[in-house]
Amino acid sequence: MDKFKITGGTPLKGTIHVSGSKNAALPLMAASILGDGPSILRNIPRLNDIYTFNNVMRVTGTRVDFKEQENTIEIDPTNLSYPESPYELVRKMRASFYMLGALLAKNGYAKVSLPGGCAWGPRPVDLHIEGLKAFGAEIEMDKGYVIAKRPKDGLPGGEYRLNPSSVGATVNLLLAASMAKGTCIIKNAAKEPDVVQLCDFLVKMGAIINGVGTSTLTIQGVPRLAGAEFDNAPDRIEAGTYMIAGAMHPESEIELLNVSAEDLGIFPQWLEKTGVQLQMNGNRISVKAPELIKPVSIITEIYPGFPTDLQAQWAALMTQAQGESQVTDTIYPDRFSYVPEMNRLGASIKVRNNTAVINGKSNLEGTSVMSTDLRASVSLVMAAMVAEGESDVLRIYHLDRGYEKLEDKLKGIGANIERVEQGE
Ligand code: EPZ
Repeated sequence: MDKFKITGGTPLKGTIHVSGSKNAALPLMAASILGDGPSILRNIPRLNDIYTFNNVMRVTGTRVDFKEQENTIEIDPTNLSYPESPYELVRKMRASFYMLGALLAKNGYAKVSLPGGCAWGPRPVDLHIEGLKAFGAEIEMDKGYVIAKRPKDGLPGGEYRLNPSSVGATVNLLLAASMAKGTCIIKNAAKEPDVVQLCDFLVKMGAIINGVGTSTLTIQGVPRLAGAEFDNAPDRIEAGTYMIAGAMHPESEIELLNVSAEDLGIFPQWLEKTGVQLQMNGNRISVKAPELIKPVSIITEIYPGFPTDLQAQWAALMTQAQGESQVTDTIYPDRFSYVPEMNRLGASIKVRNNTAVINGKSNLEGTSVMSTDLRASVSLVMAAMVAEGESDVLRIYHLDRGYEKLEDKLKGIGANIERVEQGE
């Protein structure tokens, strides 16, 4: 398993290009199998999660052609004939569960493995299943698989209120509802940009959706959807990650290209409270680090609130702040697996229930640390980049799931980071 060797202490200077969004691409890919012809998706990042989902779709007989050099993917479901998603693949990437709604809509029958565990917390799918039932699907559980069927004359439709407002459940229900016989209403739907983008793509394919961007989505099912072309959004979490990285060394000054400021919600305002200077100009954002970082406590919320996917990165920043701060995660109360590793670098963080209390400023010292999940891993890379001396960040396959060319991008703005390939 590869590792990163990082020598800390160098400021970050220069321009960094944000890739296409992983979490926005996956719903688009699932929706593409609903078309009665090929769809073309652009700005798709080369990430392990994308490759995994390509294989999940290929198992059904769908043709998937990923032109990696152009970050473009062509998905042709014409020969889809096997409406199943096996555990071996679904366990690698939870978003494979979107195939349940997609195959049910396309084929009237779907057999999809329950997603496996996750590095943190229970990550249930009860809302996905209860919502499909509310829309009239017949659901049965069979040895770790969910089998969904619709009545012969089509999915009748219905109404379902999500509690909590779940991104994944909203995606699955949208996919199933788009080709229902009747009308489906999703209440307390997620409003993340990933969901808005999916609605825009489905409408381009011929779906009828009202309330896009609000928490009540009304979908009038249609008998068929056409393939379509679509440009995937930039990755808002990757952008937020690099914005925080650019704040951690007092002499850092970076510019991000290909960013959608709107997709960042209120996150930029929180970053500015630490003393970071931001300049937004179209799809570019410049970030200038403060001399001294002010401690700022955050609480994660659903969009447009502070994203849970940026809380580990924020904690890394707060280890360098002049005083105490708190990071509270209301979405995933136990998403703090990075804390013991960050404390090994010399941070002073205590976790109490769903809050990490961070005592800054810590002078971090390089050592070996272990990645546990995608966002925890990148927070350790960020901490290592401001630690004194050399660090090894192990098990970076977690990072390869969600950050395209991370070491190249960081090297390009002055970080001292090398990938060390290690056998299994
Ligand atoms: C999506 O996961 C993202 N993944 C996650 O990003 C992100 O952290 C999460 O949304 C929250 O923003 C993708 O988009 C592929 P949820 P998802 O369903 O859809 C509860 C990353 O790092 N819940 O919105 O699985 C759940 O326990 C990943 O890129 C139920 O109770 O998240 C949680 O408390 C990690 N029952 C809350 O909803 C359900 O059936 C939000 O989860 C489903 C969810």
